[in-house]
Amino acid sequence: MSHSVSYGRDGDVGIVTVNNPPVNALSSHVRQGLTEAFAQAAADDTIATVLICEGRTFIAGADISEFGKPSSGPNFLETLGAIENLPKPVVAAIHGTALGGGLETALCCHYRVAVPSARVGLPEVHLGLLPGAGGTQRLPRLMGAQAALDAITNGTHIGAKAAHAQGVIDELVEEGRLREGAIAFARNIAARGAPLKRVRDLNDKVSGVDPRIFDVARAAARKSKRGFQAPLNCIACVEAACTLPFDEGMKRERELFNELVTGSQSAAQRHIFFAERAAAKVDDMPADVKPLAIRTVGVIGAGTMGGGIAMNFANVGIPVVLLEMEKAALDRGLAVIRGNYERTAKRGGMSIEQVEQRMALITPTLDYAALATVDLVIEAVYENMEVKKTVFTKLDQVAKPDAILASNTSTLDVDEIAAVTKRPHKVIGTHFFSPANVMKLLEIVRGAKTSHETLATTLAVCKAINKIGVVVGVCDGFVGNRMVHRYISQANYMLEEGALPHEVDDPVYELGFAMGPLTMSDLAGLDVGWRIRQGKGLPEKLPPGERYCEIADSLCELGRYGQKTGAGYYRYDAATRERQRDPEIEKLIVEHAKTKGITRRAIAPTEVVERLMYSLINEGAWILEEGIAQRASDIDVIYVYGYGVPSYLGGPMFYADQVGLDKVYARVCEFAKADPASWHPAPLLKKLAESGGKFNA
Ligand code: 3HC
Repeated sequence: MSHSVSYGRDGDVGIVTVNNPPVNALSSHVRQGLTEAFAQAAADDTIATVLICEGRTFIAGADISEFGKPSSGPNFLETLGAIENLPKPVVAAIHGTALGGGLETALCCHYRVAVPSARVGLPEVHLGLLPGAGGTQRLPRLMGAQAALDAITNGTHIGAKAAHAQGVIDELVEEGRLREGAIAFARNIAARGAPLKRVRDLNDKVSGVDPRIFDVARAAARKSKRGFQAPLNCIACVEAACTLPFDEGMKRERELFNELVTGSQSAAQRHIFFAERAAAKVDDMPADVKPLAIRTVGVIGAGTMGGGIAMNFANVGIPVVLLEMEKAALDRGLAVIRGNYERTAKRGGMSIEQVEQRMALITPTLDYAALATVDLVIEAVYENMEVKKTVFTKLDQVAKPDAILASNTSTLDVDEIAAVTKRPHKVIGTHFFSPANVMKLLEIVRGAKTSHETLATTLAVCKAINKIGVVVGVCDGFVGNRMVHRYISQANYMLEEGALPHEVDDPVYELGFAMGPLTMSDLAGLDVGWRIRQGKGLPEKLPPGERYCEIADSLCELGRYGQKTGAGYYRYDAATRERQRDPEIEKLIVEHAKTKGITRRAIAPTEVVERLMYSLINEGAWILEEGIAQRASDIDVIYVYGYGVPSYLGGPMFYADQVGLDKVYARVCEFAKADPASWHPAPLLKKLAESGGKFNA
């Protein structure tokens, strides 16, 4: 029998045990093992069989790394058929997470018991897939069409208690006594001579369903999951469960699953799944480094960023000391935090008691001395080197010697900040994205002297507050903003060369981006970049041979800072915030080109997409070459979680691999020929293009 599945007995009950760490995925050897174990169970003179898993979880799904590769061993349906068709009761004993193919396996058992801490769900949609081993046909038969539709199209994890209430779990057993509980349950079922409850035979919850629920679900998915194919296929499958006999529904599920698993969206989303997990790994981290315990945190600055950062800690029960310089600013910051929580409570996202619990975890202060005992301080003050240096000098004096000092800078040199302290090994950058309580991404900026312990602790903190951390090196703008600088510059160059704002934005929006570069600039606030450029003495101090576009500066001079002033590259409706074209700006752009002696030309949407995407990709290649990012997939994670690139594109570097690096490089060279001041082809891109390589090999 396969090494990952074993068969044994506990008296008159057969026990099939899966042991495939870390998450008991249904790899081909597990499917093989299960098929053999259930054949043995069938032949054995037991009265029932329990399916249970070793380790931290029940089967957490198909083995995602096997998709897209030639398959071997029995397929899912053969294996699960062997379980469902066993002529004596089979009981799934669930702990940890029964997800995807794991829940589908449990649904083929005749009964399911679980410990209260377990969770179940069909999260395939997050991988660009649908539950392809009968989940779309069986789950609605147990919990009803509407509940299953919601769970499958959103990929929700459902707690065991709720799953019990919904009929998915038959019995909850005491925590820590799963095996005994499941065996007792199985014996009881067999002793009572209870019928084998095959979910496929249940029909009452899928007949007579109002067909309009599917149109409503489709409209919602098109809006909230714009461009994603998997949610629509999920809906079609649940619809099939309600309109077709079981076997035909299964056939439909298979067709729609195959369409997804062979498509580009799922390949990209699976890439992001593994990329996200790889991002937490630091190549040179010694195995014996242990993160420090972070029990309390200090945040300096109660503005939008500081307040959002503080909320992250309060959300997971970590006490925060929130420091401001003036009472009015502190009160304002606290009021904003409270307002955010109360809005969530109003929408049903938390109770009023939880609002108060979280607020109670935030201790406001005007006194640096209150930071003396915290384990980690994150500074979120104004983005200016001198201001940051003053803060860090002070912090170094008041914080306890082993406290970590982090800067929420988005561009500044972390090494220069660290140099004003006596503990540069304890200094690190934590670049949160706005709004910091919502955005999943955290760029963790490793300085030249940041210790492994500080880095490991920051990664652990990042996981504790449910963020996705990516370790990056020190350079102007780190990974995300350094690349976006090239991207926004191209957008502005295209304006002066012949495009209007919507002609720049719409093609990447159509590609799937949450918004185009100019809409994004309007949202972020044009004054931010303007101040940075002024601080650098631009355009007067522009290095020779560099290109500069003055359009954004002109907008700021007109007081058009973007959405917050109701106007930027576009005009914004005061009530709806909807973007509108603005003839005044379109005129300004045309005049600007005339002044600079540029003959405007029509720029095709394909060229717009190429210039925007390839400017990101080329800069990403430089970043990899310089070791600022550890791996191409880290850049992809940053763009998916921080810059609104849909996971179905897999991020800019994965996108480049799909296009073909030879094609990308050839176009970059053409652009560089036409505009050598703004395009500098990256040697790594050239090397990979010439060798037929990929960024994500
Ligand atoms: N296949 C292959 N590897 C998997 C995996 C899977 N289904 N699930 C997790 N892993 C790997 C991870 O890549 C990671 O590997 P690493 O240590 O080398 O980086 C390791 O297992 C641990 O995973 P996490 O770091 O995510 O561990 P957590 O404890 O934080 O989370 C989990 C555990 C909740 C199970 C989470 O891993 C998860 O959500 N996994 C995916 C679940 C899923 O999507 N299942 C459906 C798969 S598709 C399917 O079943 C199709 C079917 O319908 C036919």
